[in-house]
Amino acid sequence: MRRKVIAGNWKMNKLLTESDQFVDSVTGSLPKDDNVEAIVCAPFPFLPSLVKKAEGSSLKVGAQNMHFEDSGAFTGEVSPAMLKDLGVTHVVIGHSERREHFAETDHSVNKKVHAAFNHGLIPIVCVGETLEQREANETMSHIEAQVRTGLEGLSDEQISSTIIAYEPIWAIGTGKTASSADANQVCTYIRTIVKEMTSENIAEELVIQYGGSVKPANIDELLEQPDIDGALVGGASLEPDSFLQLVEAGAK
Ligand code: 13P
Repeated sequence: MRRKVIAGNWKMNKLLTESDQFVDSVTGSLPKDDNVEAIVCAPFPFLPSLVKKAEGSSLKVGAQNMHFEDSGAFTGEVSPAMLKDLGVTHVVIGHSERREHFAETDHSVNKKVHAAFNHGLIPIVCVGETLEQREANETMSHIEAQVRTGLEGLSDEQISSTIIAYEPIWAIGTGKTASSADANQVCTYIRTIVKEMTSENIAEELVIQYGGSVKPANIDELLEQPDIDGALVGGASLEPDSFLQLVEAGAK
């Protein structure tokens, strides 16, 4: 059975003390279950403190973005080597907000995914369609292009350790969740593409999350779907109680 991965994406929220308090209040209460993994993806300035506070617990700490180069003249950017050095384990790559507001493309996503693996970081690669694409019946072709280009040139082993997050853009922060059947249909399709790119075994190992208005009230139904292996959660990951309920749902 594939493990479940519940990742909070705090986006540009919280201050350092709030972020520290969050970790202090969840680490002791996380389910002791190897089949569920809990990750908090926090803004860069909080990462060193969060990594220290999460030490000795099962909570993993991730970043929300990074540059693909190791170092150099890239003012304002953060490198994968820096994240690794801090003890960060995961990094969100190609979130739709980065694609929309910071001009990220499938090609830059691909460079970042390679850079993540070169530094021993696990990428959480985001894909998802707009409402216009869904209404024009372009969801599957769009997702296929994002997956194929995003994962291009990776080894089978790297693909099997990648986490893919399917986040329909129209469901992010809107309160509209894709129906669990619709979400699963796209996740199944992603697994089929990965099978074509690698093998049935690798595709079966791949963790695919759903994201978009996930909350304690709807996570059970989503996780019951055969191809949904977890969630990437924005708003409902900001409060410790709600985050813990989401992780507990993954341990059921
Ligand atoms: P919400 O859970 O707030 O809809 O955000 C989803 C998301 O973008 C997670 O990366």
